[in-house]
Amino acid sequence: MRVLVTGGAGYIGSHTVVSLLEDGHEVEVVDNLVNGNAEAVRRAGELAGAEVPLHEVDLADAAATADLLSRIDVDAVIHFAALKAVGESTQKPLEYYANNLGTTFSLLAAMRENDVRTLVFSSSATVYGEKAPVPYVEDFEPLDSSSTYGQTKVMTERILTDVAAADPRWRIALLRYFNPVGAHPSGRIGEDPRGIPNNLVPFIAQVAVGRREKLSVFGGDYPTTDGTCERDYIHVQDVAEGHVVALDAIAAGDAAVHTWNLGSGQGTSVLEMIGSFERASGREIPHEVVARRAGDLPAFWADPTKAERELGWRTARSVDDMCRDTWNWQSQNPQGYADA
Ligand code: UD1
Repeated sequence: MRVLVTGGAGYIGSHTVVSLLEDGHEVEVVDNLVNGNAEAVRRAGELAGAEVPLHEVDLADAAATADLLSRIDVDAVIHFAALKAVGESTQKPLEYYANNLGTTFSLLAAMRENDVRTLVFSSSATVYGEKAPVPYVEDFEPLDSSSTYGQTKVMTERILTDVAAADPRWRIALLRYFNPVGAHPSGRIGEDPRGIPNNLVPFIAQVAVGRREKLSVFGGDYPTTDGTCERDYIHVQDVAEGHVVALDAIAAGDAAVHTWNLGSGQGTSVLEMIGSFERASGREIPHEVVARRAGDLPAFWADPTKAERELGWRTARSVDDMCRDTWNWQSQNPQGYADA
């Protein structure tokens, strides 16, 4: 298939571009490069031995989006493009709702106009909210999220469900990822957050490489095995491959909306992650337990059985693999793509 990847210059998008190309698809990327990096697209193409056209278009611009979809001939879209900083989203709710919903509206209208009705959407485990029992199962309702970022995912899932109900030709996959970390094993592409990282593993990696002095561990008094929060970390290569199998499955199956968790089914604590990263890098990660971070849940992980049963997909890589590959990327590119 010819696949348009929105946000393909970003972290998960660029890894998915490589997996799509390796699976025999042709790929074009659209990205406004606010958080993404053109170098990531170039390197993704290089890794798979293909040229990947990059369209620098902001999907918030409905006319430009319609024009793009009318010029390129694609069979399907994987929609990653969105603002994703949880803390910032709560400071700037209008900007997050306008961007994450507005870009989706432009994209859906342009897809409909051009008879493209196959879509894989980048959702998140955050849609399970604070009340879902662990492990999280796809049929849990009602969806909710403590952050504005998370609410944009809840709302977009709802919008896509309504769009498909009104026109049953749509084939849609809603993929709820847990905590994607790691990098391509080549070390050529990886996560390159702008500014101070919000997320655990990029922060640890920057401490290991000497860009930051020490890690703050948010809370040591949770009701977990070692008192620190537990999350379901998943290698970004597993996430990328999950997109490819989901796309292949919806393209081959009946028109419908499917929801699949992309997670491992296992929790790992913050201290366990630090230990694994120290082994992978051979460096000590100075850290200090500080107060809890507002909004953090103690522990959650996926029930991954639906994706395994329906897609034949399950995670293949361990937490140690995630740390090894993150370190490989970070040590080869201490300043991220700015080293290019
Ligand atoms: C966060 C978002 C989630 C989003 C995901 C991926 C929140 C509440 N949730 O998940 O919606 O989908 O990122 O972008 O922000 N930690 C530290 N020190 C740090 C950073 C993190 O101890 O400097 C701890 C956190 O308390 C947490 C764990 O590490 O227990 C993982 O944090 P993080 O990587 O930010 O992911 P989540 O909070 O699970």
